[in-house]
Amino acid sequence: MILPHSAATTTSPNSQPAAAHSASGFLPAVPLLALDRQYAVLRDEIRGALDRVCDSGKFVLGPDVHDLEAELARSLRVPHVISCASGSDALLLALMALDIKPGDEVILPSYTFFATASAVTRLGAVPIFADIDPITYLVDPADVKKKISTRTKAIVPVHLFGRTADMDAILPVAKAAGIPVVEDAAQSILSTWHGRCSGALGDVGCFSFYPTKNLGGVGDGGFLTTTRDDIAAKLKLLRVHGMEPRYYHQIVGINSRLDSLQAAVLRVKLPHLDAWTTSRQVNAARYQELFAEYDLAGHVAVPGDEPRGRHVWNQFVIRAPGGCRDALRKHLAASGVGTEIYYPVPLHLQQCFEYLGWQKGDLPHTELAADETLALPIFPELTEAEQRTVVGRIAEFFQAPQLMRKTEDSTRTHKPESVVEEPHFVRRMNAVGRADDVRC
Ligand SMILES: Cc1ncc(COP(=O)(O)O)c(C=O)c1O
Repeated sequence: MILPHSAATTTSPNSQPAAAHSASGFLPAVPLLALDRQYAVLRDEIRGALDRVCDSGKFVLGPDVHDLEAELARSLRVPHVISCASGSDALLLALMALDIKPGDEVILPSYTFFATASAVTRLGAVPIFADIDPITYLVDPADVKKKISTRTKAIVPVHLFGRTADMDAILPVAKAAGIPVVEDAAQSILSTWHGRCSGALGDVGCFSFYPTKNLGGVGDGGFLTTTRDDIAAKLKLLRVHGMEPRYYHQIVGINSRLDSLQAAVLRVKLPHLDAWTTSRQVNAARYQELFAEYDLAGHVAVPGDEPRGRHVWNQFVIRAPGGCRDALRKHLAASGVGTEIYYPVPLHLQQCFEYLGWQKGDLPHTELAADETLALPIFPELTEAEQRTVVGRIAEFFQAPQLMRKTEDSTRTHKPESVVEEPHFVRRMNAVGRADDVRC
């Protein structure tokens, strides 16, 4: 049962505003993302790699890009990896490789980042939005099946938040209809499904190196995976204006090459990805324990694990039903806890897609998720004390005073000195991952 909450929930039980605690350092602030913690460990290696590229004078594609592609292919156990300039471009290139044309229909979820749909409309094709499963937030295979028509030329399941879509259900439906599957795996590098990596399940996989992703660069970047030799060959042409040999253009492509500087940094990070992923899994399990410990099940729904594969937890997204999500978010912000809403406006209701004719009420599970979900910090370097602060603040919002006391006690013993004792400007530096860094 979801219990009601009062309007006065931004004040703690002892009547002091939550922000006052935070400002006085009583409870440390917890950023949504702290990329500086990762950089602190790899700083020298990354700088060395950047120097090496600058000394070489090879800045676009080049040996580092080639080596990164080979290393990713090994890590993901997929025969072809083709890097490109962003995850958005990866989706566009995938649809171009599949020859998606104006008027073709492509089925995808509405509850995803914008790029999943804009890749379709940039080719003059028509996005057909499917609803989601309300528990996993992943595209509902039954709705996908219902929306297949003779015009459907691709299906794009999104492995949202680090969890693979239900490929047991989607792949047979696509196969029966003879429709290729493009996996949007931007948020789910190293996630698996029955032991196989996302990106190796459908016809093409699309990944992002955006800094907030589990493997993030120092700018934009992305890559594609495929098990199909024909698609791999076409993607390699499409990303360089369809040019082969130099200045001879076989097809019209785009300019979407990965910079050597990005590749060099990503090659430093890739060997750590498995351990970072495990840390995310540990953090997710700890949140699950803490939410149970603080008896918050009546107030928020906590995401579960994926029994059929590896969930890589790019985001830890809770659901706060009953219209309280925004007030909860405000309370957490006042307490110095970073959160984000992925995504507040479903794609079928975006202004730019009005011409497609979708209405409110068309995708009820999607629309409710957009109103009720909230992403909490889950990055690998997040400490147990910080997680206790996050869950304690949530308990505080729902007015569970005895639970809050427990949280404050334990937080005091676990206080991370680097956050609490340093001057305020350093503390603010720790909160890297401001809103403009974490939109995708
Ligand atoms: C699900 C999804 N698809 C596609 C993209 C686009 O990737 P990029 O930002 O690298 O263009 C993102 C986010 O960045 C994403 O989260």
